[in-house]
Amino acid sequence: MTTALPQHPALAPAALARRFATETQRFTASHPRSMALAEQAAQHFLFGVPLHWMRDWPSPASLCVQQAQGAQLTCADGLTYSDFCLGDTGAMFGHSPAPVAQAIAQQASRGLTSMLPSTQTAEVGQLLAATFDLPQWQMALTASDANRFLLRWARAVTQRPQLLVFDGCYHGAVDDTLVDLVDGKTVARPSILGQVHNHAAFTRIIPFNDLVALEAALADRQVACLLAEPALTNCGLVLPEPGFWAAAQALCQRYGTLLALDETHTLSTGCGGYARVHGLAPDLLVIGKAVAGGLPCAVYGFSDALAQRMREAKQAAPEGHSGIGTTLAGNALTLAALHAALTHLHTPATYAPMLALADTLAQGLRERIAAHGLDWSLTQLGARMELHCSAQPPRNADDVRRSSQPALEALLHLFMLNRGVLLTPFHSMLLVSPATTAADVHKVLDGLDAFLAA
Ligand SMILES: Cc1ncc(COP(=O)(O)O)c(C=O)c1O
Repeated sequence: MTTALPQHPALAPAALARRFATETQRFTASHPRSMALAEQAAQHFLFGVPLHWMRDWPSPASLCVQQAQGAQLTCADGLTYSDFCLGDTGAMFGHSPAPVAQAIAQQASRGLTSMLPSTQTAEVGQLLAATFDLPQWQMALTASDANRFLLRWARAVTQRPQLLVFDGCYHGAVDDTLVDLVDGKTVARPSILGQVHNHAAFTRIIPFNDLVALEAALADRQVACLLAEPALTNCGLVLPEPGFWAAAQALCQRYGTLLALDETHTLSTGCGGYARVHGLAPDLLVIGKAVAGGLPCAVYGFSDALAQRMREAKQAAPEGHSGIGTTLAGNALTLAALHAALTHLHTPATYAPMLALADTLAQGLRERIAAHGLDWSLTQLGARMELHCSAQPPRNADDVRRSSQPALEALLHLFMLNRGVLLTPFHSMLLVSPATTAADVHKVLDGLDAFLAA
């Protein structure tokens, strides 16, 4: 894999650090209110934020958000941003989509949660089945929870102990999945705090796009479930090679392993997600984050055959806690938002302009890469795309690790933030929403031009 950039003098560590210091000063000078609010919040919030990841942005203090609407975000200092992070996909359909905001407002005065199904439940079930092509559903509040619960079901129904994931995966804060592939072995991800789970005993891990490794991992019939994103999106956007998923699905079927696709991010592919668009037939499907338009909600769907095995597993277990579910899951407010989202957002009409504008942005980015003679590449999955500092797009997580340039990426993020464009902080991912405009696209392309010229 070629990474020609480090040779350029502007990319030497000292030059990057100088440039980063200049951008840091620029942010501090232009965001006095965010800086002051961050200082106040630090009195009572660990790291000064309600969730410590919010400090993963490269700015000297978090941008405090006053309002987010459509694809625009306004900070405490009254500056507006074209948002290509979109809450790391939670706001993929735009911030506060009108039908969802209205449904939430209507339900808010009629009861928020009762640990009973609301009158909308049956209709939501029909809409889920029609949208995602699986007949049976359960709900959770986050994609992490949905993944955690489906793993319990998968192990319970198959009576197999092992989980299989791809190196570079992220499926949320799920102990079993927080692993890396090191020298062919499952290793606990070193950054995880307070970790005691015995990963090597119950999680297998293989490189993405590797059918030989997949068959070897499944062959002893100990794997309950392959949990995978259809494309890796969390270590960088790594696309499946042609034919990979058809073959992987056939291998899972041959060895009696359930195929669980986590479509939380690949919902960007097209209406109904990657599996629907590409004709895959997973046993289980997870969608979180944007599924209810940004209100906390996740759903997991499964086949009728699997539902029958799940019923039998539950009936065979003694009375008591199942380890599956949380008290507020499936609450009335969430159901109302999900109903509105399924009716108005998960539609071809919503996706069409979003996908068309994403193509325009991707084309523009490719032109910039070529015009500046960079050894960079771009991968795209519908409305989502990612810049890579390598001439060849990555095939797996190891390729991403070899080509990643964290200092350069942090500088790019801060540079763009200072020019009114938000990129996803963890990597160079851009997401287009139905509310994104051609002007937003020009802003990001102009920003990139300025960055590359600098
Ligand atoms: C593919 C995938 N699954 C699950 C999750 C977890 O989502 P949440 O943090 O909302 O639980 C994420 C979060 O980034 C994700 O990318």
